[in-house]
Amino acid sequence: MTANLDSIRTNLWPSRVAITDVAPRDGLQNESYPVSTREKVALIEGLIEAGVRRIETTSFVHPKAVPQMADAAEVIAGVPKRSDVVYHALIPNLKGYERALACGVTHMGLVICLTESMNQANIRMSVGETLEVSRVVMDRSRVDGVTLRIYLSVAFVCPFEGVQQPGKAVELADAIMALGPEELCLADTVGRGTPNQVAALVALLRHRHDLNRISAHFHNTYDLALANTIAALQQGLARFDSSVAGLGGCPFSPGATGNAATEDLVNMLNGMGVETGIDLDKLCKVSAEVERFSGRMPASAYYRAWTSRKRSQSA
Ligand code: COA
Ligand code: ZN
Repeated sequence: MTANLDSIRTNLWPSRVAITDVAPRDGLQNESYPVSTREKVALIEGLIEAGVRRIETTSFVHPKAVPQMADAAEVIAGVPKRSDVVYHALIPNLKGYERALACGVTHMGLVICLTESMNQANIRMSVGETLEVSRVVMDRSRVDGVTLRIYLSVAFVCPFEGVQQPGKAVELADAIMALGPEELCLADTVGRGTPNQVAALVALLRHRHDLNRISAHFHNTYDLALANTIAALQQGLARFDSSVAGLGGCPFSPGATGNAATEDLVNMLNGMGVETGIDLDKLCKVSAEVERFSGRMPASAYYRAWTSRKRSQSA
């Protein structure tokens, strides 16, 4: 008997995935060349044009810690006023919250690392202090009508403390979910997590929390981001971060490269019949802009193939 491919697919994967493109923040924060506010806004506009409806636009952090994000207020002022697009901004603390709120930001992201050493390196607080700050910010956000998501950073591997046990991540995830954020984002900040780790953590969490409130954020340092995405999809996770042109890295995690390239993620999901609402051709035009202002070929397999196809067509 021949198996019906469609029925097999729908048994395994969600039929639609929500993608948050984090290139304007997570992508650009680690780039050493200057990127003008105009180029950042154009990047965001290009993503919207390609169908992306959730974008991490910037971060309200200390400009000395991340100089590339010093123009956060100007970026927010420049983005198109559209009610169908969710503009996120990362905040490290209450001061970041106040700054973002003053700019009219309605969706913010806090970061809590799974390990003390990474939390100290990143935001100079203990994990306990960060949970307390998050509780304060969470209370404020309810009053102000702000929606919060919280990153559980280095959820699989810490650059200082190595491989993390899923039980430890579950404990922190429970504490974060108890605060009541709209979304918990499991972040493989260094890109060293593996599919079995991802499957184990998501399998544990799906029995404890609503998976619609959980997303994943995989860096592609060792080319495992898409494999990790598959592992999460198979557990029913349907919300992923990615970065157009594969832009990015973390200034506090040496050697980490960008997230899964949005083109590669969308191409894979298209092939699997999973909807994203994103137009690949238009996305590649955004990557072409990134190639222009970065002066480097983007770390995206789909974009490289798209570019050589274009060149051979015009030859
Ligand atoms: N934005 C701007 N300035 C801030 C700030 C923020 N979110 N938070 C604190 N500051 C300022 C304070 O006002 C204070 O300024 P002053 O010296 O003029 O009075 C100064 O920074 C020190 O404040 P403190 O609370 O002691 O902060 P810190 O020195 O411990 O730095 C962070 C903490 C979080 C602000 C800083 O480490 C940071 O911005 N890190 C970036 C993290 C990041 O982006 N990581 C990548 C994402 S995962
Ligand atoms: Zn990241």
